[in-house]
Amino acid sequence: MVEQPAGSGEQPFVDVRDACKVYQDGGHPVTALRHVDLQVPRGRFVSVIGPSGCGKSTLLRLVAGLEGPDRGEVRICGETPARATERKMVGFVPQTPALLPWLDVLGNVRVLEKVNRAGARRRGPVPAPAVAERCDLAGDPEALLRRLGLGDVLHARPGQLSGGMQQRTAIARAFALQPQVLLMDEPFSALDEFTREAAQLQLLDVWQELRTTVVFVTHSITEAVLLSDTVVVMAAGRVAGTVEVSLPRPRRSAQLDSGAMHEHEHRVRELLSHAWHADARSAP
Ligand SMILES: Nc1ncnc2c1ncn2[C@@H]1O[C@H](COP(=O)(O)OP(=O)(O)O)[C@@H](O)[C@H]1O
Ligand SMILES: [Mg+2]
Repeated sequence: MVEQPAGSGEQPFVDVRDACKVYQDGGHPVTALRHVDLQVPRGRFVSVIGPSGCGKSTLLRLVAGLEGPDRGEVRICGETPARATERKMVGFVPQTPALLPWLDVLGNVRVLEKVNRAGARRRGPVPAPAVAERCDLAGDPEALLRRLGLGDVLHARPGQLSGGMQQRTAIARAFALQPQVLLMDEPFSALDEFTREAAQLQLLDVWQELRTTVVFVTHSITEAVLLSDTVVVMAAGRVAGTVEVSLPRPRRSAQLDSGAMHEHEHRVRELLSHAWHADARSAP
């Protein structure tokens, strides 16, 4: 559970309570989530980390309204995920970017913005923005793409881009829609270490200005600590613990090698390791 800042008294932006999910795999039940709680206050960057198969993507799909829990409840700004998604309050960046190959980078970012604006007119007003954030960056696809290091490829087609550039285009598109909550499922997992680090810092640069509420799934400890206010550690379908990250913002690459950074990484690693040993002991 991600605690709210003391005295905020505010309803969490993302509120998952006692979520359980069991899949059927060839007639055998597979438990993906066991009584998961996740409360994300507005404007926070929360990462969910855990080994492959521990239920991270399932949790994200529940928040995105792509699936329902078998038990428990999910709310986004007080709305059901279905309603929140219908009102375009939720942005989703999947592991592989789904870009339209016939449009250039700028076109890919603008196309959904246009659809969204037309839909918004029909849907009526959505809740007030997360914080008194500056929306001018999110409302300017070209500026957004430049901040994400894509200024030189605005008119390139997705097929001409590296994986890192494609993923950053997908992230720009998600921010351009100005969602209340942005969900990202291991967006940088396929990138090499150097490309990944640059992409993380560019994402932070944009987030620092927009302060969108983010739930970010990763299996990289360094990535989770560098990006987040809170790291939620998952193991075998449950939340094993959380680590609050007190590193100052804005974060810079120099912090990657700091003692404070290593201390946070150590705490996340310990939670993962304890959960792994506990699960190994209880395995049949
Ligand atoms: N549609 C599905 N059908 C059957 N089993 C699934 C399905 N989706 C996920 N699972 C299983 O649920 C568990 C959690 O999966 P997932 O949420 O994708 O984990 P993670 O994202 O942490 O790797 C895994 O054991 C996975 O095999
Ligand atoms: Mg996954």
